[in-house]
Amino acid sequence: MTSALFTMEDLHIGIRHRGAERTLVRDVSLHVEPAESVGLVGESGSGKSMSIKGAMRLLPRGATATGHIGFDGRDVLTAGRADLAHYRSRDVALIHQDPRAYINPTRTISQFLTEGVVHTGRMSHDEAIERSCGLMADVGIDDAGRRLGQFPHQLSGGLLQRVMIVAALLPSPRLIFADEPTTALDVTVQSDVMAILLEQIRDRQVSMLFVTHDLDLAAAVTDRLAVMYAGSIVETGTSDEVYTRPLHPYTAGLLRSRPSTTGVRRLTAIPGRPIAAYEAQEGCSFAPRCLFATDRCRSQRPRSRTVAGRSVACHRVEEIADELKERAS
Ligand SMILES: Nc1ncnc2c1ncn2[C@@H]1O[C@H](COP(=O)(O)OP(=O)(O)OP(=O)(O)O)[C@@H](O)[C@H]1O
Ligand SMILES: [Mg+2]
Repeated sequence: MTSALFTMEDLHIGIRHRGAERTLVRDVSLHVEPAESVGLVGESGSGKSMSIKGAMRLLPRGATATGHIGFDGRDVLTAGRADLAHYRSRDVALIHQDPRAYINPTRTISQFLTEGVVHTGRMSHDEAIERSCGLMADVGIDDAGRRLGQFPHQLSGGLLQRVMIVAALLPSPRLIFADEPTTALDVTVQSDVMAILLEQIRDRQVSMLFVTHDLDLAAAVTDRLAVMYAGSIVETGTSDEVYTRPLHPYTAGLLRSRPSTTGVRRLTAIPGRPIAAYEAQEGCSFAPRCLFATDRCRSQRPRSRTVAGRSVACHRVEEIADELKERAS
């Protein structure tokens, strides 16, 4: 995909765990176009955060990534120190799930916001303060001057996550990785913070890779979806198509297992529990939970292939399409 800003190709992440090698992410390929938002959706343990950590080259000790990660035509996995520092501080930015776990509680908001951009020579201290104040107003933080002098514990979770959005936007990145940016917040502030993040990235034409376990939210706020199961992407397509007509049985199951706001749909959970990549047996990782699995599914891992303009990793897509459609209605 030549026009893509960000690409992952066959990304594999493994980690040494108690003397053995564990696969956490398996053959993940995705891309994000300029000004595009892509949702990476999956249940807990599916490898979403690990993929983002790989994309930032911020993997935990003992973990290794192979495959290819590209940003604007440059290779991220093999980038040297200077290129990597540039990539992390100017090209991309990361918004974490829990701002309190990430921010240093002993530093003021002003120090938190300005230190990185001043240190990397991106702007002077005065410029950083001025730009921070402007961005704080943009994300709905009143009284920026007073807030800059405060410590993180003096701000509510919602306000602190707005500060994180300011920090992410400050160096004018071209891509934001947002890893469950609203999950740790109270329900009442979640939608406000999500709306602000969306408004800002749209206004500035910034791309986003949005990580969430919430398929409804992802479908509502992104252009395309990549659905992840056990460390692999099982289905990719436009958010509208994946949401309204899933082709992979896992996506279809996820859609049917969430509660309906109208109360009409029956809650049909996917049998069994989600697994991590290292727990997967041979064959399709989803086969033990799949209503449509055959012997072939249990013995042969399906490769992603293009079906109806989408990328789907399922041997039986064509055969089961009608039944999935019927079940969804
Ligand atoms: N430091 C580590 N050492 C070993 N295994 C790890 C480590 N960090 C994460 N894992 C494992 O890697 C797998 C993927 O984890 P990851 O954090 O990417 O999941 P996730 O999809 O982000 O889930 P969640 O929705 O809970 O955030 C999980 O099984 C997890 O237990
Ligand atoms: Mg995670």
